[in-house]
Amino acid sequence: MKLGVLISGRGSNLQALMAATARDDYPAEIALVVSNQPQAAGLERAREAGLATAAFDHRDFADRQNFEAEIDASLRGAGVELVCLAGFMRLLTAGFLEGWPDRVVNIHPSLLPAFPGIHVHEQVVASGARFSGCTVHFVRPEMDAGPIIIQSLVPVRPDDDADTLAARVLATEHQCYPKAVKWIAEGRVRINGDLVEVDGAGTPQMAAINPI
Ligand code: GAR
Repeated sequence: MKLGVLISGRGSNLQALMAATARDDYPAEIALVVSNQPQAAGLERAREAGLATAAFDHRDFADRQNFEAEIDASLRGAGVELVCLAGFMRLLTAGFLEGWPDRVVNIHPSLLPAFPGIHVHEQVVASGARFSGCTVHFVRPEMDAGPIIIQSLVPVRPDDDADTLAARVLATEHQCYPKAVKWIAEGRVRINGDLVEVDGAGTPQMAAINPI
């Protein structure tokens, strides 16, 4: 399956997908990396690995439709079949998403539907929540919403600040995203309304309790 990865910055999730897709037995490859930030560090990572890249600075476009039309055309030109948002910090409109029905996935650094949006880890720490994690989900027009494919769970520790929590969550993001994309590429993921079924996937038996 050909992937288009959309980024805005550092690109560590892109890196995790690059590492996964480099393996012979992985059922997907990265056909194009697109950024709305021409200076994104992730673009450099992609170029160094010899991947095709494109940059469309959203500030150069009169409106969202024109910006998205360029992204759409570049993805289609590269033969992309699944669009992976990996720290892509622009909302995609319903018009764009209609052209990619159930073909856009996103990773978000919280246990959605809790804590959508930005400054997630600050909000989690301030909330007193005992757990956080990440979510990979199909994208719907509402921000950080859509059928959930996989989540990770990490404890929030008493001495955490946003940075230490972000690092703990990010490590699990790098595990979850390649796994979710693999399942999709293998044709094991079905959407029933708001729910996702993953053929052959298991469920942990144990409760996680914090503090202990
Ligand atoms: C990741 O933590 C990702 O979950 C988050 O941005 C970061 C990008 O890091 N995405 C969102 O907040 C989307 N709502 P990366 O560029 O190193 O992959």
